[in-house]
Parts: sequence; structure tokens; C-alpha cells
Amino acid sequence: MIGIPKCWKPIPGFAVTCALKSRKDEVEHARSVADALGLPFFVRRSRKMDAMFEMDESVLRFLVVQSDRWLLVDRDGGQLHYHPNMGYVRLGNYMRGQVDHLLDACALEEGDRVLDATLGYGGEALLCAHAVGETGVVHGVEACPELGLVVSRGLATLETQNGRINAVMRRIEVVHLGHHLEYLQQCPDNHYDVICFDPFFEHQVGDDWTMSILRTLGEHAPLTDVTLAEAKRVARKRVVVKATKWSGVLDALTITSVVGSKSGKVCYGILHIG
Ligand SMILES: C[S@@+](CC[C@H](N)C(=O)[O-])C[C@H]1O[C@@H](n2cnc3c(N)ncnc32)[C@H](O)[C@@H]1O
Repeated sequence: MIGIPKCWKPIPGFAVTCALKSRKDEVEHARSVADALGLPFFVRRSRKMDAMFEMDESVLRFLVVQSDRWLLVDRDGGQLHYHPNMGYVRLGNYMRGQVDHLLDACALEEGDRVLDATLGYGGEALLCAHAVGETGVVHGVEACPELGLVVSRGLATLETQNGRINAVMRRIEVVHLGHHLEYLQQCPDNHYDVICFDPFFEHQVGDDWTMSILRTLGEHAPLTDVTLAEAKRVARKRVVVKATKWSGVLDALTITSVVGSKSGKVCYGILHIG
């Protein structure tokens, strides 16, 4: 089924349902999505999500298959659907000639292979996919499998008003749903040109609600020296790490080459390889 990553494996505590008051064909479609994902399907009828979670206490998250998108709903009430988020705005700005500090830091060339090791909404992967062009490769790794699934589906199917950006979204492939270190350890030396990390900052910058939901669902462990050493082995040109200025994260990882705007709170550290 379109948008389900090849690396997808069913996980415990995750189930599928359909939207409220779905038509019969929509219910059948949602059931076929559950089958394709190897997940249990729960009949919805007119039940609110609270009532859906009451049906089985082992279910922690539902994938709600709506007619136009897949919605991830958490037992605590958090909801997330895919949108390229700030990546859409940043790519639009970049296409109009503005500087983007991630792309500055990555120095990508047409045809490069990129790994976004902290995919999230895939907004920064989108910028990279534009920069490497149709001959390039952008792979994503996401620690939260349910999130990676919804993002993979969105990247494959969402139709924004910008056809050029839609085409770029289609070129991003989710290759691993789990910790990035386990993925890097399987990669041969020099498998990618550039590897990017954007781990969560200690405190959220700004009050974007889409980032708040991502923070609820996503993995928070900090980037380690061990992971960075593996990334240096797997990257041919650069490893790029996003951090907040003054957080000390880049110093702790002994990354000294940094780009970013003078006034912004965020910067990108660069490890040059070779
Ligand atoms: C700040 S968000 C990244 C946002 C992303 N750059 C974007 O443009 O949408 C961090 C994401 O990385 C994921 N993550 C954090 N640690 C990870 C790890 N060790 N392996 C894989 N993914 C990880 C989190 O679950 C979260 O989705």
C-alpha cells in the first residue's frame, strides 16, 4: 500500500480504526490498511476516541484512517497528522532565493546521498531532497515507528498547492523505524555523503503546536559520542548537527565549525570528514 515504508513492522499497542461515521467502503478501506500493516482493526461506529481506548487497555495509540489522511491519536489525547510544517515554508523561501542555514551547513550537490537521522515531520529532509535533485537520495530514520509511518504516508500522498514541493516530498524514503544508531551500525563506510541530526532541544523554541505534539511522541535521548562516531564512519563528506546556541551541545560533542544567523537561536554544527 502506498506510503507504507518497506522497513515497517507491526508494533504492540498500536491499532487501526476509521473516522467517525465512516461509510461502508471507508470502513473496508481502513480494515485493508490494518491488514497491510499487520495491526488489529477496531470498529468505530459513532464512538469518540476516549471510548475507543476503553475498548482495549493494551492499545496505546490508534491510526485513524480518514478519507484524505492518516491521523495518529495517542491515549493521552495528542493527535498528529502529516504536514511538511516549517520545511514547506523554508523550502518556499529557499526557492525564492533566501539563504537556508541547514543547506549552507550541508553544502549538498546534485546527486548526493543524504541521511536524515532524526526525521520528525521530514521538514529538513524536504530541503535536502530539493538540494540533491532527482538524481540524489534522501533517506530518513525515525525512532517513533507510528510517527515515521504517518510521515512516510504523508510524504508519499499529500497534495499541497505547490506541485514542485509535492514532487520533492515523493523523493524522501523512510528506511528505518527505530534508533538511528542501530541503523548506522548496519551501514557500510561512506554510504552517505551527508548525515544530519536534529535531536530535540532541551526546551522547545517558539510555541508551534505541531512541534509540541512531536515532542510528546518522539524520542528525547540526547545525541551521543558513540552515534556521532558511527555517523563519521558512514558519511563521506559531512555530519551536521542542529542545536540551540549557548546550549553547550555542540561543545560537548567537540564540534567547532558552526553556521547560523547572527540573531537566531538555532545553529548547525558541521563535522568535516576526510
Ligand atoms: C526535533 S525533531 C526533528 C524535526 C525534523 N528536523 C523536521 O524537520 O521535522 C526530532 C525527531 O527525531 C527523532 N529522534 C530523536 N532521537 C532519535 C534517535 N535516536 N533515532 C531516531 N530518531 C530519533 C524524534 O523522535 C523526533 O521525531
